Amino acid sequence: MVKTVRLEPIAQETSIETNGNLLSVLIAKDLDVLRECGGRGMCATCHVFVQQGMEALTPVNRREQRTLEVITSCQLNSRLACQARVLANGVVVELPPGMYINSIQDIEALVGRRAEQNLLHPVTGQVLVEEGKLITRSMLKQIEKATSFNFNDFFLNSSDI
Ligand code: FES
Repeated sequence: MVKTVRLEPIAQETSIETNGNLLSVLIAKDLDVLRECGGRGMCATCHVFVQQGMEALTPVNRREQRTLEVITSCQLNSRLACQARVLANGVVVELPPGMYINSIQDIEALVGRRAEQNLLHPVTGQVLVEEGKLITRSMLKQIEKATSFNFNDFFLNSSDI
């Protein structure tokens, strides 16, 4: 059986097999999902807000719960698309605004330019550079000092890794 999912960022509806992975819907529609952890439920890059139909998705598992607790922009309707499977019709999802970067080098490449959108940390979803801000070397140093891009720093004691 096929289920319908609506993707708010592009105002489109799409179909997926029952029990299909929500992430596959986003990818099929060419939405920019970094998948930093390879779909293992360990990063923020497939974080979505479920505007409607939370009950039509599989429940949050332990791995997902643990990651959601680290994501700074997490809300009650947050899910990780790679961990959520679609069981019924009526799911409407929205992506958090901004662009995930996966290393400090990604920001370094933008020094001297203004951020076209919020630059987000790949694990915590934290806004590292706000939209419109000029990216400078000193800003880069601050981010480097305050933020790690190492997954193990965030999930050090997890038994699920
Ligand atoms: S791709 Fe990393 S949590 Fe989904």
